Amino acid sequence: VTTSEQLHVVVAGVPRSYQRPFPDGRWLTPEHEAAIRAVGPGIRLTHTCREELERGHIPSPDPDVLLVESCGRKRYGEELPEKAFASLVTPRLRWIQACSSGVGHILELGLLPESIPLTNAGGVHARALGESVMAAVLFHSKRLRERLENQERRLWTELHCTELHGKTMCVLGAGHIGVETARRARAFGIETIGIRRTPRPSEAFDAVEGPARLKEVLARSDFIVVACPLTPETEGMIGQAELRATKRGAYLINVARGRVTDEQAVLRAVRAGQLRGAFLDAFGQEPLPPEHPFWAEPGITVTPHDSHSSELIGDNIVALFTDNLRRFLNGEPLRNLVDPARGY
Ligand SMILES: NC(=O)c1ccc[n+]([C@@H]2O[C@H](COP(=O)([O-])OP(=O)(O)OC[C@H]3O[C@@H](n4cnc5c(N)ncnc54)[C@H](OP(=O)(O)O)[C@@H]3O)[C@@H](O)[C@H]2O)c1
Repeated sequence: VTTSEQLHVVVAGVPRSYQRPFPDGRWLTPEHEAAIRAVGPGIRLTHTCREELERGHIPSPDPDVLLVESCGRKRYGEELPEKAFASLVTPRLRWIQACSSGVGHILELGLLPESIPLTNAGGVHARALGESVMAAVLFHSKRLRERLENQERRLWTELHCTELHGKTMCVLGAGHIGVETARRARAFGIETIGIRRTPRPSEAFDAVEGPARLKEVLARSDFIVVACPLTPETEGMIGQAELRATKRGAYLINVARGRVTDEQAVLRAVRAGQLRGAFLDAFGQEPLPPEHPFWAEPGITVTPHDSHSSELIGDNIVALFTDNLRRFLNGEPLRNLVDPARGY
């Protein structure tokens, strides 16, 4: 149990896709700041930004707790690049809450001693992602692209669509995003089968299986949703052999990380009709280069890794952070604790 008196909480880096950042690189609203301060008396809150850290304005005293969005080794908008992030990681630090669900880019910096817990933002984006997956499912099954094309050409042409009721969806990764996806899919009458490392029954899925059953599940699935983290174990998990095992004409939706799939094998599978199409939000190389064949492939829909887009991201992050801050002060287990050995 830790006392809140003089606990120094530092917030830095605008969360990816946050819709209303301030021009100075800060993002917390007065309501957000009040919610953080209300967790315990005497909490000291410093809200800084990339530009100030890069100019050497390091908060003092050193932070006890960080709420941070970092872009790791890259440079991306108002997120903290490696050096600015490193300037906040001092011996006094006791916990880091990331604003992203995937934290591979933070772990690979190798800055964090094992003794400092890192929690990810799992769940913060999950409802919006579940909605985007269902948008992709409906876009495909109700042939919305062709409908728009026909309207542009003023063509009164009936299309043969499919019904979702009774279809099967394989959800690779039965965590926050997988669960929110499955809940929505089941409301449409879709049978949902989750795949996770540690399978156990879940109210959100009709069945949950381990990775060893993946090919069997793919063989009977009309929709394949990739919603697991990128780890050494999941890299290339949807590869040539798995795509060969899929039900012919299945539709692939990847809202996780490009490298969980073999992207060349996905392209070949679409061209061969093994997959009827794919909705891809995440890629091995981002931004996806203009010359990449995915852009022009009929049947493939490309979105710029923003399927989580929501006006509620900031509120969701602050709700998770304040709950975790309360747990931290009470000595209770933190939500979304990352296991660096597992990679998520
Ligand atoms: N497109 C976007 O905008 C966007 C936004 C947010 C997140 N993401 C991506 O989505 C990923 C998932 O997010 P989340 O919040 O749902 O994560 P999560 O709650 O940690 O869930 C991850 C799920 O993946 C499963 N998993 C991990 N390794 C596996 C393996 N080798 N085989 C089968 N299943 C495995 C886990 O199994 P256990 O439950 O058994 O551990 C868990 O069910 C993130 O890591 C991130 O890369 C994308």
